[in-house]
Amino acid sequence: MLRGDHAFGAEVRGVDWSHPVPEEVVQQLVALQDKYAVLIFRSTGLDDTRHIAFTQQLGSQLEVNPFYAGKQNDRVGIDELWDVSNIELDGSLVKPNSRRWHHSLGNALWHTDSSYHQQRSKYSLLLSHGNPKRGGFYTHFADTRRAYADLPAERQQQLAETIVEHDLWHSRALGSPTVYKSPSVEERAKKPPAYHQLVQKAPNGRDTMYLAAHAKRIVGLDTKYASKRDSATELVGDGEDMTASQALIWELIEHCTQPEYVFSMEWLDGGDMVWWDNRQCMHRANPYTTEMTARDVRRSTVVDDGPNAWGVSAS
Ligand code: OGA
Ligand code: MN
Repeated sequence: MLRGDHAFGAEVRGVDWSHPVPEEVVQQLVALQDKYAVLIFRSTGLDDTRHIAFTQQLGSQLEVNPFYAGKQNDRVGIDELWDVSNIELDGSLVKPNSRRWHHSLGNALWHTDSSYHQQRSKYSLLLSHGNPKRGGFYTHFADTRRAYADLPAERQQQLAETIVEHDLWHSRALGSPTVYKSPSVEERAKKPPAYHQLVQKAPNGRDTMYLAAHAKRIVGLDTKYASKRDSATELVGDGEDMTASQALIWELIEHCTQPEYVFSMEWLDGGDMVWWDNRQCMHRANPYTTEMTARDVRRSTVVDDGPNAWGVSAS
């Protein structure tokens, strides 16, 4: 997808996935990734093992699945993979109103994977398996580099040096206020909040905004944006700075996700894979519906080792 000098999202052909990908091809792909932020590969024929092997070529550390419901209850049961499907262990579709259904609702909000980790992740690679029924499955991506570039200079200046608190349980609560208003003590302990700079350099040197549904609070908002407080509306949360933070965060997310910055990838066949860079785009799934058909997608995630990998301290 090319608009003027802004390249965002590309479908890549010509990679031979039946063998390990040669190092020089990996380097070419990383260069394309830096430019386009989202790369789509059709009908790769990859299986779990080769999916993980390719992911390992992109970074030395893969994220390990925390298996909230226990590894024995995970349909895929492989440490380096997330079961992002809508399928249960027994092959049935995820039941409306189950905890898993509610957990997935957060995925339908614009987000960046693992921004709630203090050492965040850079790449996500989502691979489709089986023979999904065509039609109706999309993943949506928003270009946070171009969205930042289009902000008025005054706004850009205001946002410089801003620090954002990211919290997984915040986005779960937004996605499903009834079930995730109060995550369990264990859930909270497994995923405490993390702090990252809002405006950052993307891998290709352009400025980008790093935020999305996990973004809970702007650190020091009171002093920095005192004037915003009056116009803030109650969204979710526990205090005035939270209300004002959410107003600013969602104003920026809405800015980033206007149609001109967004493209939607349609999932066509098993073997389709999309690889995105969480540092320079946001993404979201379609929500589960009672009409959905089976969709077996599994995600690997590469831990960031770049200059902003470890974020910043809270103050
Ligand atoms: C993910 C994700 C989107 C989708 O795997 O991180 O957000 O369409 N997936 O399943
Ligand atoms: Mn995601």
